[in-house]
Amino acid sequence: MGVCVLDLVLTEWLSATIRWLHVIAGIAWIGSSFYFIHLDLSLKSHKELPDGVKGEAWQVHGGGFYQMIKFMVAPSKMPDELTWFKWEAYTTWLSGFALLVVVYYMNASLFLIDKSVWDMTEPMAAGVAFGSLAACWIAYEVMCRSPLGKHEVALALIGYVFLVALTYAFTHVFSGRGAFTQIGALIGTIMVANVFAIIMPYQRKTVAAMIAGQEPDPHWGAMGKQRSVHNNYLTLPVVFLMLSNHYPLFFATQYNWLIVAIVLLIGPVIRHFFNSQHAGKGSPWWTWAVAAAGMIAIALLSAAGPRGEKVGALPTTPKFSEVTDIVSGRCSMCHAKEPFWPGIATAPNGVRLDTPELIKLHARMIAINAVKSSAMPPGNVSEITPEERQKLASWIAAGAPDK
Ligand code: HEC
Repeated sequence: MGVCVLDLVLTEWLSATIRWLHVIAGIAWIGSSFYFIHLDLSLKSHKELPDGVKGEAWQVHGGGFYQMIKFMVAPSKMPDELTWFKWEAYTTWLSGFALLVVVYYMNASLFLIDKSVWDMTEPMAAGVAFGSLAACWIAYEVMCRSPLGKHEVALALIGYVFLVALTYAFTHVFSGRGAFTQIGALIGTIMVANVFAIIMPYQRKTVAAMIAGQEPDPHWGAMGKQRSVHNNYLTLPVVFLMLSNHYPLFFATQYNWLIVAIVLLIGPVIRHFFNSQHAGKGSPWWTWAVAAAGMIAIALLSAAGPRGEKVGALPTTPKFSEVTDIVSGRCSMCHAKEPFWPGIATAPNGVRLDTPELIKLHARMIAINAVKSSAMPPGNVSEITPEERQKLASWIAAGAPDK
């Protein structure tokens, strides 16, 4: 028992520490990439600029002025010191992957597997999740390097269909929560791989050519630019997907995959607004109308109810004792002062459902997690039936009476 508690505390501590690092690295990465996109778009060219310079921008920050100029390809002489931006991206991926292992792969039966979707063993679920990360990244690389890679719009459309199809597939293999995290991790992996396997190597080649006194190939820069544009448009959807595991109505309802499909549209559209504005090409306000319509569609879709079998409305309100029986039988093994579900040390998220008063008190949270969505029980490990959900629904609909 002592070892077991130590193990649980260690896992919690690891999860919290890695998550902290992951969020900070993500902020640093997204922050620097948004900064450079803005800078790149706001460069203005004029006659006095030296040869090979694309443009100039003046900025004010932290009590001083900055004069920024961008050399296309490279300057005629390499500077002695050059700052590279890569560890923000690498740290985000490394910490994110560690978090994926600690939270999802090591707790696969709660967070990755839903037996009613697909009955898998824990190692199998982790294997499928990890294998598909690698396979889908390769598929993306092939797309970008094929002739399709030369047609920006066609690549974007096919890439979109590819991601939506994967989301649909993942929601039919993993639990809703697992599927959302999986597609988020997949897009994140593609983005970091763009930095690691394309942008950085080509930048190194450019620098090496310069030092050797050769003319760098402009194609190298163009390759990096293409991937950098992809990363720009994928950023906002990834952040949504990473936060979505706190919102059962998104990941554990019937049209969860459609919600992701809409987010994959809203994110790039919002980026388009800022890209246009920073480039001085006006403010395409229509983008906000599209984003608002998308968010309304998500709200409506998220009200469609839990995944899986539906049962008709009940004519009567169940007695409160029936409700407490359901909760005791399906929830309290975890949500108690002293949980007895293996791997759960304290009531998850501090939510205790082991007395009638606490059940009544948490009525709203029970509604979101187990009535309006099928987030709880996780992976339906305690096998709540559709009829029991229906009884909880009727109880909630009647205002959660405690009689
Ligand atoms: C196998 C253990 C287990 C069972 C059974 C279980 N839960 Fe949970 N529950 C969890 C875990 C783990 C979390 C924390 C999830 C997270 O970290 O996001 C949680 C979180 C919650 C939360 C808090 C969500 C939030 O937003 O903070 C509520 C409410 C909840 N469960 C309700 C229920 C209800 C109602 C049932 C029964 C129908 C149930 N749970 C059954 C493990 C369980």
